Amino acid sequence: NGLSARAKAAGKLYFGSATDNPELSDSAYVNILSNSEDFGQITPGNSMKWDSVEPSRDNFNFAGGDVVANLAAQNGQLLRCHTLVWHSQLPSWVSDGNFDNATLISIMENHITQTMTHFKGKCLHWDVVNEALNEDGTYRDSVFYRTIGEAYIPIAFKVAAAADPDAKLYYNDYNIEHAGAKATGAQRIVKLIQSYGGRIDGVGLQGHLIVGSVGSSAALAGNLNDFTSLGVEVAYTELDIRTTTPASSSALQQQATDYASVVSACKTVPECVGITIWDWTDKYSWIPSVFPGEGAALPWDENYQKKPAYNAILNAWGNG
Ligand code: G3I
Repeated sequence: NGLSARAKAAGKLYFGSATDNPELSDSAYVNILSNSEDFGQITPGNSMKWDSVEPSRDNFNFAGGDVVANLAAQNGQLLRCHTLVWHSQLPSWVSDGNFDNATLISIMENHITQTMTHFKGKCLHWDVVNEALNEDGTYRDSVFYRTIGEAYIPIAFKVAAAADPDAKLYYNDYNIEHAGAKATGAQRIVKLIQSYGGRIDGVGLQGHLIVGSVGSSAALAGNLNDFTSLGVEVAYTELDIRTTTPASSSALQQQATDYASVVSACKTVPECVGITIWDWTDKYSWIPSVFPGEGAALPWDENYQKKPAYNAILNAWGNG
């Protein structure tokens, strides 16, 4: 009767959480994370990224990712795999390598093929391309875009489809939860991949949101439908809803309302398959280090006590 049990009763595949390898030495943390009633799915926060997996050319290290994959298997949890092609946490041998078009394509193809082959059969989803867009919906400047052009995206999906035919292939980005230029840009990417004859199964809406700025579940669901009308499924893949810290009790109430709005939006859209929060405790949230003075973004506080958001999520999923 936890967050994921309720999500499944509402017809979804999972409610889940990101985790990260350093936290797995905290046994109290692991106990809560391993409760599949609350978390039917986990995502490695860092250990499947390019700098972890292929720190130097053709030198692969899957140890960190294996730890998270094995934990999911042990707990009976689904695994979202994150991420293959991203401008960030990209080792400098790739970003500063000055490779020509053909060479960078082969490097990208090799990275995708080796990584997906290693984890084959374990990943429900793969975030194949992450954060390719600027806020105005144009392509973000990256070594992939500069060297290969927009074709790097359909090429990545084509290779991914061959490497693991059973994993659902996702494009994943932030600030696409509300209709607007960036969401439209993500829809353009879906159509681009399709126009190449490629397979894209889903769009991941990261959901790094702000208390009081989430909007209505109807507006969120309308935006989800703008994606699903293109023939893809959707998921909220990195949900957290931050506020200024220390959080007031009224902020925590608004946060509960905001979490419920996101859950309700996913609940009402049949093609929304699940929700992942970007870790479950404020203790290990990425927010305070990137946005000083902000945080308290997750349903459990840093002492592992449930906040109002927890029951709001349960209630929003309903009782089947
Ligand atoms: O591994 C080094 C370690 O050797 C070093 O001692 C330490 C000192 O700072 O840094 C460690 O690297 C950190 C890494 O996380 C692993 O802990 C980086 O500094 C830190 O920047 C990195 O942050 C991650 C961030 O992605 C990087 O962009 C966060 O943990 C991770 O939660 C976050 O996740 C991203 C998603 O992948 C994509 N969407 C946005 C989301 C939040 O930024």
